[in-house]
Amino acid sequence: MPKEKFGSEKVIKIKKDGPYVVCGNIPMAKQTIITDEDGVSVRWEKGEEYPRMEQYSLCRCGNSENKPFCDSMHIHTGFRDDE
Ligand code: FES
Repeated sequence: MPKEKFGSEKVIKIKKDGPYVVCGNIPMAKQTIITDEDGVSVRWEKGEEYPRMEQYSLCRCGNSENKPFCDSMHIHTGFRDDE
């Protein structure tokens, strides 16, 4: 995805028919839902951290082969916001 210019501002922008664009050197890590013996969610557990980047795009269509990042597959699958 081409990078957009937002300066050093912390911004999450929703691209029409595309990914979330996250800007501002915001940290990101995997999170796992921890459940009790009945399967009820009780807390999140922080996992692996991703390398920090000034800007990244997160898949919103579910079709990326490089999740959680967008690999532009939304273009090929015809992902639409309004469906
Ligand atoms: S939003 Fe781009 S691959 Fe899913």
